[in-house]
Amino acid sequence: MPAAPVLPPSPLEGHYDAPARAGGEPLVVRLAAAFRAAGHDPEHLSLDEVAGIDQLHLGGRRASRHLAVLGRLTPGERVLDVGCGTGGASRLLADEFGCEAVGVDITAAFVAAAEWLSRATGMADHTHFLCADAAYSPLPGRAFDAVWCQHALMNMPEVAAVLAEWRRLLVPGGRVLLHEVVAGDNPEPLALPVPWASTPAASHLQTREALETRLAEAGFVIEALEDATETALAWRQKHSRREATAAAPGGPALPGPGLIFGERFAEMGRNLRDNLAADRVRILAGCWRLA
Ligand SMILES: C[S@@+](CC[C@H](N)C(=O)[O-])C[C@H]1O[C@@H](n2cnc3c(N)ncnc32)[C@H](O)[C@@H]1O
Repeated sequence: MPAAPVLPPSPLEGHYDAPARAGGEPLVVRLAAAFRAAGHDPEHLSLDEVAGIDQLHLGGRRASRHLAVLGRLTPGERVLDVGCGTGGASRLLADEFGCEAVGVDITAAFVAAAEWLSRATGMADHTHFLCADAAYSPLPGRAFDAVWCQHALMNMPEVAAVLAEWRRLLVPGGRVLLHEVVAGDNPEPLALPVPWASTPAASHLQTREALETRLAEAGFVIEALEDATETALAWRQKHSRREATAAAPGGPALPGPGLIFGERFAEMGRNLRDNLAADRVRILAGCWRLA
């Protein structure tokens, strides 16, 4: 893995690593302690056991599997997981689809967690991670068969530069697989905070039409596109109901996203549910091919 340039601290760290920034333990330390408290060895975990903290998008692993099938990923393909978070999609693609995955994320605490979780689940040979801005990675050109991006583009102010980078990194005919949050038809301001932003300045939602136009201008031809809003809303409603109930009896539960985002997580989830229901945001899943 080429060395990533030293990045200035990302303004997103204050959002995604808020509990540590507020004086708490580093993310990996908090998560490892929670696994121990739940009776699990944090150095030996299963993919099921880490699913509560490594799928930071609507729909969890089911949505990732759906996108992989939509984009026809096949064993041996090299996939770049852009805005990989704690690396769940990279591990799923390696484990279930036989892909070789490289995850890139601007939040250093997430990259550290992704590396640890891949080691702990025995996936370190097929998943690699680096901390970099998706618009300017140190990776060699034409190194990937597919770019994978789930719920991350809406955090990125420089979409044109990111798409140019994807062109550079993909082999000719390579694919872009997107599972993204876009602006809905309702122009009201978002209810905030949401899982990707606490302030309007951190949210870079574009309309479906603007995203499609930008992809076309960057040389990507659409192969499949679905509106996944209804499924995402049903999933979010179910999870918001669960988050509102007291912890289940039977001892400490496995760590969930609340340990990553802190006590604001339930509010973020409710706001996302309400933004989906009011058509302030929509969810797309699609595949584009480099012409
Ligand atoms: C909502 S999380 C989704 C994480 C992961 N894709 C998933 O679905 O579990 C968005 C991620 O995008 C990352 N991100 C935002 N802007 C980025 C950028 N310019 N370059 C790389 N990663 C970025 C954030 O750090 C965060 O991990």
